This record gives sequence, structure tokens and C-alpha cells, in this order.
Amino acid sequence: MECSLSLFAVIIVGLTSLVYLFFKRKFSYWANRGVKQLEPRIPVGNLLQKHFRTIIGNIYAVKDGSAFVGGYFFTKPVVVATDLDFVQDILIRDFNNFHARGEYNNEEVEPITAHMFSLDGPKWKSLRVKFSPTFSSGKLKFMFPTIVEVSQRFREALDELLCADNVQDVKDLSARFTTDVIGSCAFGIECNSLKDPDNEFRKYGRMAFQLKIGILTRALMMLFPAAAKIFRLKVFQEDMTEFFMRIVRETVEYRQTNKIKRNDFMNSLIELMNTSTRDSDTNTELEKLTLEQATAQAFLFFIAGFETSSTTMMFTLYELALNQDIQEKARKEIEEILKKYEGDLSYEAVKEMAYVDQIINEALRKYTPVVALTRKAVDNYKVRNSNVTIEKGTTILIPAYAIHHDPKYYLDPEKFDPDRFTPDQIKNRHPMTFLGFGDGPRNCIGLRFGTMQTQIGLITLLKNYRFEVCSKTQIPMKFSETNPILSPEDGLHLKIEKL
Ligand code: HEM
Repeated sequence: MECSLSLFAVIIVGLTSLVYLFFKRKFSYWANRGVKQLEPRIPVGNLLQKHFRTIIGNIYAVKDGSAFVGGYFFTKPVVVATDLDFVQDILIRDFNNFHARGEYNNEEVEPITAHMFSLDGPKWKSLRVKFSPTFSSGKLKFMFPTIVEVSQRFREALDELLCADNVQDVKDLSARFTTDVIGSCAFGIECNSLKDPDNEFRKYGRMAFQLKIGILTRALMMLFPAAAKIFRLKVFQEDMTEFFMRIVRETVEYRQTNKIKRNDFMNSLIELMNTSTRDSDTNTELEKLTLEQATAQAFLFFIAGFETSSTTMMFTLYELALNQDIQEKARKEIEEILKKYEGDLSYEAVKEMAYVDQIINEALRKYTPVVALTRKAVDNYKVRNSNVTIEKGTTILIPAYAIHHDPKYYLDPEKFDPDRFTPDQIKNRHPMTFLGFGDGPRNCIGLRFGTMQTQIGLITLLKNYRFEVCSKTQIPMKFSETNPILSPEDGLHLKIEKL
């Protein structure tokens, strides 16, 4: 008995030592290469907090003046960029080696995951080439009246709500506005979230950011994507996928049968399903889109478009409620320019509202919706002016939120100051100090559209209402730990006065 007990103890000690040695070896990856690392913990590495903002912020905080700091997601070594020239190398100069994101997707089992954000290589390039004209300023100008129309409905809905209560959740209101805008422009459908907050678009829009997959599934997708594919793991819930597949199929069928043409993303999708395009860089013919591929892109435009813009709108209103002088200055600009255009909220009038634009950029800096950008090394890469080589397959994280909050680039970073974005101030900063929309050939394709809907929403609100903080307003702001996009923990309540 005694003998078997001691044998058991020896096995346990042996196994524990082996596990310890395994992790010790894995967690020495960066130190062995002379790279500063944030000390990891067994078995999660540096994944100790819930939200990416804190995880990456903690790694960024140990920077030592070199190009990057090493981190570990479980046992996977990751690079967190800490030098702006290095950021520029990754995003722009050496883009050819960093055009991939390395996101998990499984076209066969879950076609909706095969969209422009998660695909890499020639499949990504082909989609980017196909859709770039859709997001040009010329095309967006045609969508402008649709967004203005939704903003009028937004105002009517808010007027009704204010009759019952002058304290409203601007988080929910902004999301309802951008859901209706993207619904109209991407799907050609009046979602009516403003009138009916529980409609299916809002429901599935919310669901896309509240993934039900557990930590183990996520770890498998991140560490062993090939195995995750073999196990046919899915990212999204079935009913959400079915909803988007059905909506796109029905809309495409309806438009094709009735020969309907509109100036929206759905029209571009239908054109790309019917005609092939050419890649002028390589002079090659690109295949037509299938219905599944078109659905995946429409789904992406929906989820990439509504939450990012609505959080930007909401955080801007929060800061304007806290800073009444900035709110007044913005309102004055809006009134003056609208007067010049005889009250018409036109494309040209919005373009002239420089201060409103500064405010939006400052909100994107302080409350960066996408807290980090991701790239993957497609080949071994020698870091400029150093002896370090980043191995093929390594994930590079560009900590946009941390850079935006670094006092080295933005003095007193917690202060909301739109004057940081005057043309002179921008010129004096390194171009990589502002990464709200990413940068380089894989930046946000919806930059202009996102800015335009945020501008129109804000202009409509500021022209008609005054925003103030009240006892229900969360001060200081507490961020959600579960939403990957930066957003408040609960709603964001403000007192709204009709002007
Ligand atoms: C204020 C609003 C928005 C913000 C802050 C934002 C931010 C971003 C960021 C940071 C990225 C990653 C860029 C990179 O890795 O360098 C991105 C990618 C992307 N965004 Fe946006 N976005 C916004 C609105 C939109 C809208 C309205 C759409 C579409 C209707 C859109 C579609 C996309 C797509 C398709 C990508 C992937 C591009 C690619 O991989 O080639 N975004 N966005």
C-alpha cells in the first residue's frame, strides 16, 4: 500500500514537473530572443483580464524603447507593437509580408464567416478589389439622402420618447439609428429599429457581439485553427446565420425579379454576382460572387458598420454632455453652415463642418472602438535596425487604444480636446498616432461611410437637442468586459432637452 502511494506521488511530481517545464520553455520564447516580455502565467499566458483593451494595454505598458514587446496568448507568442515606425512598417511599408489577419473562418461549414475581414491572401484581395468602388466617395454621395431620411425618422422617434421621459439611453438610441442606416444601405430594408426596438435586425445585431462560444472553443480557434476546422467549429449561432442568409436571398430574388436598381451596397452585391471584375494590379479576371459569398459580405458590412459608428456617436454625446462649451461651439458651427445652405443638410454642408469632424476624431481617439489591429506575418521578417526576426505565422497586434492614450503622443490623454485634430496639430504628429480606422491597404474600407453616418446622426441631434449629464449618467465611464467593441458596461443615460 505504502509502496503504491509513493509511486503515485512520484508520478504526480513527475507529471507536474513536465507540465511546468513545458510551459517554462514555451514562455521563454521572447526572452530567448532578447525581446522584452510581460511575464506570463501558466496556462493562460498574458490572457488574464477579460477585455482585450486591458490585456494589450498591460503588455504595451512594459515597453522599453524597442520596436515591440512580446506577449503570450496561452502558449502562442504574440507581438505587441510599441514603436510607431515599426507600426508603419507593418501596416504600410512591408504590407506584402503582413496582409493577413489570421482570423478563424470556415467557408464550408459556416459560409457567413468567409468575409473580407476574416479572409486572407488572394481571397481577401479579390474581395477588396471588387468592393473598393462601392465605398468610393462618388458612390457614397448617392447614399447620403438615404442616411438623411433615416436621421429624420430618428428625430421623430426621439421626439416621441422625450414626451414620456427626458432621460434616455443614448447607447440604445445610437445603435437603433445606425442599425436602420446600415439596414437601408446594405440590405435595402427599412429595419424600423427606431419604432420597434425589438425587431430582428436589432436582435441579431446584438447577438453578433455576444458570442455564445466558450473559452475552450475560442482557444482552439486561436491556437489550432486547422483542428478547429476539422471539428467543424462554428463562431455564430445557427438562427442568426439563417436570418442573414434568408434576408439576402429574398432581397436578391425580389430585386432581380422586379428589375429594381438602387444606390446601395445590395446593388453592388447583385452586380458582383452577375458580372466578373478585373484586378488591374495583376490584370486577372476575378470570379463572380456566389450568393453565400454575397451574404457573408452583407453580414460583415452590417456588423462592422453599426456598432462601431453607434459607439462613436454615443461617446461623442457623452463627452459633449460633460463639456457644454464644446457642445455649444459645435452647435454654432452647424447652425451657421446650415444657414449658408438655406437649412439644407447636404453632402457639401456636412463636408464644411470641420469642428464636428474634429470632435468625432477626438471621440475615436479617446474611445477607440476597435482597440487593437491585427496582422499575421506570412513569412519570416527581420525587424528594421535590430537583430530580431519575427517568425512566419506570428500574430502582430497594433495597440490602437494604448497608442491613443499614450501621453508621449497626446498630452493629458484623458482630456477630451477636439483641437488635437486641427490640420496643424495632425501635421505635427507621427501619422501612426491615429489608428481609429486602421491604416494601409487593409484599413477600414467603410471609413467614409462610417464617418458620414456618424456626422449626419450627430448633426441632426445637436441641431435639435441639448445633451446634459444627470444622476443616471455613469461618471467616470465603466467599460463593458464582454463586448469586443469598446462600449459602456450598461447603457449611457443622458438628459435630453428639445431646442
Ligand atoms: C466609425 C465607424 C467605424 C470604425 C471606427 C471602423 C474601424 C475599423 C477598423 C479599426 C478596422 C480594421 C482596420 C485595420 O486592420 O487596419 C476596420 C475594418 C473594416 N471595416 Fe470598419 N469601421 C467603421 C465603420 C465601418 C463601416 C460603416 C463599414 C461598412 C459598411 C466597415 C467595414 C469594414 C470592413 C469590411 C473592414 C475590413 C477591411 C479589410 O480587411 O480589408 N467599417 N474598421
